[in-house]
Amino acid sequence: MSVSVSHDEFRRRLDLTAQGVEDLLDRLLEPDPLPGEIIRPGRLLEAMRYAMLGGGKRLRPHLVVEAARLFGREDQGVLRAAAAIECVHGYSLVHDDLPAMDDDELRRGKPTVHRAFDEATAILAGDALITLAFDMLADEATDPDPAVRIALTLSLARSSGIGGMAGGQMLDLEAEGRFASHGRPLRGDEADTLRLQAMKTGAILVACLEMGAIVGRADDEAKRALSAYGRAIGQAFQIADDLLDAEGEAGLVGKATGKDAARGKATLVSLLGIETARARLSRLVDEAQGALQPFGPRADTLRETASFVAARRS
Ligand code: IPE
Ligand code: IPE
Ligand code: MG
Ligand code: MG
Ligand code: MG
Repeated sequence: MSVSVSHDEFRRRLDLTAQGVEDLLDRLLEPDPLPGEIIRPGRLLEAMRYAMLGGGKRLRPHLVVEAARLFGREDQGVLRAAAAIECVHGYSLVHDDLPAMDDDELRRGKPTVHRAFDEATAILAGDALITLAFDMLADEATDPDPAVRIALTLSLARSSGIGGMAGGQMLDLEAEGRFASHGRPLRGDEADTLRLQAMKTGAILVACLEMGAIVGRADDEAKRALSAYGRAIGQAFQIADDLLDAEGEAGLVGKATGKDAARGKATLVSLLGIETARARLSRLVDEAQGALQPFGPRADTLRETASFVAARRS
């Protein structure tokens, strides 16, 4: 499919959102307590700032912002919703890297939070980032309409909890064969792997589009189209991540590589092989771009985003 928006325009949009999120989080993570808070312990604040500032592609905020822009909404409230989901993503990375989980030393090109601080601080920084995310959504600065704030809260909670990201992380660890599974044992086939990945990575990405549609007051048809796009880029995103783990260089990717195979992680790359996974990736980009058809050229930035998700090198 031909995409008319230039790659430069996509980059410009991504950079603009990244800068907006960086500035907003920098302001929200300041030492002064908010009304209702007592004090903000310095060590915890420092760890949260370390986790959230100065790194990451900011893909999730970009998706929220670009989805909202389809409906003409572009303001600080949207950026707050976008930054909230980035806080949940940031927490998930801090916890994912812990010794009890993936036991990683490098994240976003620097030592992981538990390496730079300690495990207990990393756990608490993750905890405080989740609550910050919901604090931001509940605040009327995000949207004057309480019904919109509740819908945003529900979308983020459902996508990141037991039936979404946290559940997917559980399945990811179970698939390594670490513990006896409670319930139906994983077969580790394609259907199981797709579901695991739709939960651990896809659900949050779908929620980004949903949250953009919620703040934009989109109708049901537009919401369905954006969710279909989100599901396709969600799958593409994790295949790209798994290909980077299999083939990338840690120095460029900003995190350790070659670890999925060593741990026996359930990935489509291990299941299908590199070439088939790559072909699947390009099919998913077409599928994602096709789902945006109802929006016409207005969605060109999101079309280019789908290509970026597949081609990314970090
Ligand atoms: C990495 O996400 C973790 C997965 C969900 C696979 P990103 O690749 O978006 O990480 P950052 O935010 O750019 O560091
Ligand atoms: C992490 O998946 C997904 C979440 C944090 C929810 P991975 O374990 O594959 O992510 P990386 O490769 O460490 O970034
Ligand atoms: Mg993991
Ligand atoms: Mg990991
Ligand atoms: Mg990975």
